[in-house]
Amino acid sequence: MQLAEAQQKIERALLSFGLEASEAEAETRWILDHLGFSTLTQRVSPGQLLAPLQWEQAQALLARRQVHEPLQYILGNQPFCGLLLKVTPAVLIPRPETEELVHLALNTLPVIAEALRIADFGTGSGAIALALAQELQKRRQASQIWASDLSAAALALAAENAHLNHLNEAVIFLEGDGLAPFLALDLELDLLISNPPYVPLAQWQTLAPEVQLYEPQMALTPGEDPLRFYRLLAEQGPHLLRSGGQLWLELEASLASETQSLFLNEDWVQVRLLPDFAGQTRFLNALRV
Ligand SMILES: C[S@@+](CC[C@H](N)C(=O)[O-])C[C@H]1O[C@@H](n2cnc3c(N)ncnc32)[C@H](O)[C@@H]1O
Repeated sequence: MQLAEAQQKIERALLSFGLEASEAEAETRWILDHLGFSTLTQRVSPGQLLAPLQWEQAQALLARRQVHEPLQYILGNQPFCGLLLKVTPAVLIPRPETEELVHLALNTLPVIAEALRIADFGTGSGAIALALAQELQKRRQASQIWASDLSAAALALAAENAHLNHLNEAVIFLEGDGLAPFLALDLELDLLISNPPYVPLAQWQTLAPEVQLYEPQMALTPGEDPLRFYRLLAEQGPHLLRSGGQLWLELEASLASETQSLFLNEDWVQVRLLPDFAGQTRFLNALRV
């Protein structure tokens, strides 16, 4: 079968599974790339032939996609801020909004002679901590980065991602509940950053099957109290940050002002909400007094 025909068949199949046209197009490109046909080849050599084994592989992939398994879990990876992260159902698939969070936080970090001290709470695949580590290395800014999670399986994968991206020594991974692993180290951080679980439990049922059936529920919803982790960060964050240290959080747009109100007290200044590229209020930034 020629590449152009395979492309059409895959795209049609994805559309029939309910994907939007732009998603079907992007996933088709990604699947063909996985089969060994670069985006350039797809564009300039539509007449190339697929080996029977390659088409069988595509069929197997589509069978999994049809039952809503996210393509990232099927292929086993997700690009994030220039890194390629391994992902499994043990971790949330890192989202584009979280790339924005990383860029926003980086823009507020000072350039200092000493190492910047950073903690990423709820690191999952290691996405935020590793992206920060890589960018600070590029800037030749020394850093000490700690990243925590309650899930041992997630932390094992995060450590593997550090290795796969040549960032072995750059992040110290810690297992534990809430901010306890950081508090135990008596840190004085320049940046505390997190994309904590924030989907209200009631909203869980309304999520796409890709999310509901395959992504770890513990990574997405904090349970009955949707603001649980923001309360924790508002109360315990001041014990972890130096005076003037930055707090950067991703949040649920529909709970933005409730989230912000948790930080409107004597511990924090310059508490502001920021939108993501889609225009949704998505981030909170505050400085420790
Ligand atoms: C929304 S995911 C974020 C993952 C990653 N930082 C990202 O942005 O892609 C939240 C993470 O918090 C972790 N988590 C959930 N409850 C926790 C708790 N009580 N203590 C520490 N981590 C927790 C989950 O295992 C999950 O990896």
